[in-house]
Amino acid sequence: MLQNLFDISSRVIVITGGCGVLGSEMALYLAGQGATVVVLDRDAVKGAELRNRIKKMGGKSLFLESDVLDKSILEQNRQDILKSYGKIDVLVNAAGGNMPGATIATDQSIFDLDMEAFKKVVDLNLFGSVLPTMVFARAMVDAGTGNIINIASESALRPLTRVAGYGAAKAAVANFTKYMAGELALKFGSGFRVNALAPGFFITDQNRNLLTHPDGSYTDRARSILAHTPFGRFGEAHELLGSLHYLVSDASRFVTGSILVVDGGFDAFSI
Ligand SMILES: NC(=O)c1ccc[n+]([C@@H]2O[C@H](COP(=O)([O-])OP(=O)(O)OC[C@H]3O[C@@H](n4cnc5c(N)ncnc54)[C@H](O)[C@@H]3O)[C@@H](O)[C@H]2O)c1
Repeated sequence: MLQNLFDISSRVIVITGGCGVLGSEMALYLAGQGATVVVLDRDAVKGAELRNRIKKMGGKSLFLESDVLDKSILEQNRQDILKSYGKIDVLVNAAGGNMPGATIATDQSIFDLDMEAFKKVVDLNLFGSVLPTMVFARAMVDAGTGNIINIASESALRPLTRVAGYGAAKAAVANFTKYMAGELALKFGSGFRVNALAPGFFITDQNRNLLTHPDGSYTDRARSILAHTPFGRFGEAHELLGSLHYLVSDASRFVTGSILVVDGGFDAFSI
């Protein structure tokens, strides 16, 4: 009988930032595929809601309050997960995002850059992926196998105006993805994979102000993005799920160090 390469029902998958717009969509989907989903987030209220939603649909999940910038909390999370399930197969580093203070306004320039906000956005997006990787890869290495999926962004591939800090951080996430693919495979063997998803433009809470006016109409920036997107529309959160499933599953067994772009053609297109 042919093996189903996409069967992920035995996987224990940890998702940081799992209560976010994209993270929760991922958690619900993966639980729907039979995987055990461990949601780590600093928002305990949303965490409890998400756990209940997964439970109602018959899925297996655990919510743990966390902070991706605090190594000792992450180590406690690791201990709790191993106690409950005995292993961690996959880590999805989905905590991240831009911050309003780190965006350069249209009437500002680089000389107005708020360095504190710049550092915060790099902290969350870069170190908020590096630290969980260090902590959870330890359990993977001890088990002899593991799979890490980072979330980069279109801004990692091409600098976008106004979001210097976010772009720098996501470019570093893309670089770290490739670095870790080599690091884990060279030092611990071919049972370890590290890849990233690079979502294009999806309207969510973190970019709504940049892309829409209060009445819902598109800003000039949104129109410019759409003019540069061969599909001519923004992505829907659920359109990331197939690519995520592929990276989580054995269908991508020989894939490591790749950045899988999901953007309606934005990155491929010039004029
Ligand atoms: N939304 C988009 O269009 C888009 C595009 C490209 C990439 N991304 C990336 O996808 C990922 C998910 O984006 P999203 O839109 O779901 O973001 P979101 O803002 O909706 O969710 C982020 C989640 O992370 C949690 N979080 C924040 N700081 C944390 C911390 N220190 N410790 C633990 N949890 C923390 C928040 O509570 C929230 O639940 C991010 O890395 C983002 O940069 C998003």
